[in-house]
Amino acid sequence: MSRQYRLVALPGEGIGPEVVQASLDVLRYLAEAENISIKIDHGLIGEPALDTLGSYFPTQTAQLCQGADGILLGAVTKGGILELRQHFDFFVNLRPVRVFQSLIDRSCLQPDKVNGLDILFVRELVSGIYFGPSGRAEDESGAYGYHTMHYHDWEIRRIAQVALKHAQARQCQLTVAHKENALPHIHWSRIVQEEATSFPNVMVEAMLVDNLAMQLVRNPLAFDVILAGNLFGDILSDIGGALIGSIGLLASASLNADGFGLYEAIHGTAPDIAGKGIANPLGTLGAVALMLQQWGEANAAKKLIEAQEKVLAQGYYTADLKPQSGGILVGTAALTDLLIQAL
Ligand code: IPM
Ligand code: MG
Repeated sequence: MSRQYRLVALPGEGIGPEVVQASLDVLRYLAEAENISIKIDHGLIGEPALDTLGSYFPTQTAQLCQGADGILLGAVTKGGILELRQHFDFFVNLRPVRVFQSLIDRSCLQPDKVNGLDILFVRELVSGIYFGPSGRAEDESGAYGYHTMHYHDWEIRRIAQVALKHAQARQCQLTVAHKENALPHIHWSRIVQEEATSFPNVMVEAMLVDNLAMQLVRNPLAFDVILAGNLFGDILSDIGGALIGSIGLLASASLNADGFGLYEAIHGTAPDIAGKGIANPLGTLGAVALMLQQWGEANAAKKLIEAQEKVLAQGYYTADLKPQSGGILVGTAALTDLLIQAL
């Protein structure tokens, strides 16, 4: 009997619907070949949800996602995504940054600086400055706005454990981003070091986030797993896009303690290219691969990654990537067909 899953697709806005459609086309083909049965439900989030149901993240969407095996998100400008992450307590955000060898000359750095690059960003996703007390107010010197960075020690502890586990399964090296020279009350370094006593093989290094940003560009091969809070993780992981050639290639998985997950590319809605049929679906498709891994469908995930590598190695590329001599520029639909052929 085939394994059965229910997936909720939330295409969202901008290029979201295009990359989700492309990814689902590839997934349907792959699932059939692998004898996996996937029921796909579609839901609304972001602007389309606001227009139709009166809220960026409507109750109907939350209910549709409840009990599913995964959520595949396209992109939203802002409204809906933070609510969705918080609703299901998706506190773990995994953002793997691995170079495709055939795209090594599309990096913003010299090829030898990124050869074999393989970094895992572990970003805390449901706390920090994104969710602390915020608002607009007024005092004697005028109107002001505020957002508060706020972390419970237990929130740092639980994400630290996840990052340490990943480091242990990889190169046993964990770099913790912090800014304790200016923000001394949030104890990332101490708490992660405390948790690390249960992971004696893992080498933990705490690094000021500004220095870390510089080191990531100077010598990215020096990193294995990078743990960061919500805001720093958001900023640092975009550097990953520049390192491997395009943010359009990067995927992420957001998980809660039960292993339930939201899968999405790390790029945004890209309104400038929306509807033109030129968006790169590989970020979202990479997220599908992460979902299959999370489901324990390792074989299907491997095939999908190999298909991506194969098509890229054949020289096909989308407009977000720096042109390369001999490369063949393709749009979303053509790339999707090529991926299906490769499978
Ligand atoms: C990301 C995005 C989001 C974030 C935005 C859309 C709120 O930049 O997932 O990286 O900051 O988390
Ligand atoms: Mg971001």
